[in-house]
Amino acid sequence: MLDRFNRHINYLRISVTDRCNLRCRYCMPGEGVKLINHGDILTYDEITAFTRVAVAAGINKVRITGGEPLVRKGVTELVRMIAAIDGITDLSMTTNGIFLADFARPLADAGLMRVNVSLDTLDPEKYGYVTRGGNLHDVLKGIEAAQKAGLRPVKINCVIKGTPDEEDARAVAEYCMTQGLEVRFIRQMDLASGTFSVVHGGTGGHCAKCNRLRLTPEGILRPCLFSDRGFSVRGMGAEEALRQALEAKPERGTANHVNGFYNIGG
Ligand code: 5AD
Ligand code: SF4
Repeated sequence: MLDRFNRHINYLRISVTDRCNLRCRYCMPGEGVKLINHGDILTYDEITAFTRVAVAAGINKVRITGGEPLVRKGVTELVRMIAAIDGITDLSMTTNGIFLADFARPLADAGLMRVNVSLDTLDPEKYGYVTRGGNLHDVLKGIEAAQKAGLRPVKINCVIKGTPDEEDARAVAEYCMTQGLEVRFIRQMDLASGTFSVVHGGTGGHCAKCNRLRLTPEGILRPCLFSDRGFSVRGMGAEEALRQALEAKPERGTANHVNGFYNIGG
């Protein structure tokens, strides 16, 4: 699919839930957020049907994200359903890793190819502070399990305040080097004010090269992370939502007042 600016759109990010078992300070308020009603969330059949249409239109790269995708019941089944679609050459998931030790093997068996795990610090106390209660040990076990299950490459998403040179980021980089992990440093963003920058070591944040569309848990197809525009898959059907999202994809992002990272998945 080519958009109006001749960008080749081949990447679909699917947020399967707005729920999360952590409350990272840069993502969610401590008391949590108003949750979407279950009936308003796309079923696995609906997500799969949409993805099939998107793949027929030219998508070949799919990422499952959240919220935390591993808190949605039966997400391994969704992975299996999506993996069965012909034409997907890259199927990945972004997770906070807390439940990954248990899920890595079943996910790999279901057809998941690789994972990105969020990890901002290797200091257990700081990790607990930043995530408001997360246990670093669970994440490290999850990362190890992912490698053992063959979910390669395992990439680490590390949110930084300033530069990859700051203390926590350097420790994460060092850990990644010794463990054979790829690290990406993501400067802390602000959706509402439109504050974003390119991802060090990744492809995000570079508007001229953007190849993405995003599906929210309620089935709103968003052309850009930093835009309020969106098209309802339930309301207008998959083909029309795709057509309009492609048409509405802006040359560069401005701001998003509708979503938070907890329901659009970064
Ligand atoms: N800025 C940058 N990245 C963020 N994430 C969550 N909130 C923010 C933010 N404000 C990241 C998480 C995770 C991914 C889903 O999005 O750390 O890696
Ligand atoms: Fe959950 Fe990820 Fe947000 Fe942290 S950044 S609260 S792990 S959705």
